[in-house]
Amino acid sequence: MPAGTSLRWFQTLPSTNAAALNALNCPEGTVFAADCQESGRGRLGRSWHSPPGRNLYFSLVLYPRLCLSQWGGFSLAAGVGLAEGIAKLGLCPELKWPNDLLIRGRKLSGILLEAKAEKLVVGIGVNVNQREFPDYLVAASLSQVADKIWRRDKLLPHFVEEVFRWCKLWEGGLHQRVLSAWQQYDVLIGNKVTACRGEERIQGRAEAVGGQGELVVIGDNGIRHYFHSGEVTLDKGLRE
Ligand code: BTN
Repeated sequence: MPAGTSLRWFQTLPSTNAAALNALNCPEGTVFAADCQESGRGRLGRSWHSPPGRNLYFSLVLYPRLCLSQWGGFSLAAGVGLAEGIAKLGLCPELKWPNDLLIRGRKLSGILLEAKAEKLVVGIGVNVNQREFPDYLVAASLSQVADKIWRRDKLLPHFVEEVFRWCKLWEGGLHQRVLSAWQQYDVLIGNKVTACRGEERIQGRAEAVGGQGELVVIGDNGIRHYFHSGEVTLDKGLRE
């Protein structure tokens, strides 16, 4: 494992995020990984499809020395780290705020940040060697796009290294560096979007991702809206 990290590997866990959140005496940089999750968690209370033997499911423990208002940026930093890791494999990842990682418009990876007291857990699922997905998922795997079987034991430290490095850059105050890296992969900025937060639904143009990780949308009526959480869809669709 990369410097500053260590691995706790399990055959099966309910959720690597839950294990990381609940673990006591667990130093920064500890990675909980499992071959299979029985109740993998996704954003907005959804579940994360986690069959055995094919993909990566892991959670990195951090203790950010930043005020809470800046914790949102770790979601961007983790996305950038993962995107860089995938780009280094020779593929072309795309990032969709807040932290979906897509490839050819399909979801390759999901990131779920959860916090407990001073601990922040960055949970990541990457579709690696899975070739078929349930119909309701618009998903893709590394194996499908590169047409090969990947070594998960090699990919895990590679992704952990990038994600840890970019999270540390954010923690170290290099926010502009993270934001500009994010922009290189962003699929929303400049495009017509619909952003939803609870009952609120705003149509407009995605303008920027701000210094606290928020998405700025200029509504069709010219008013700026700041989304610190929520869901966004590209009006023209992603797969073209
Ligand atoms: C999303 O909804 O896009 C986020 C999905 C995050 C899934 C990962 S898999 C490893 C970690 N453990 C979990 O229970 N969830 C995250």
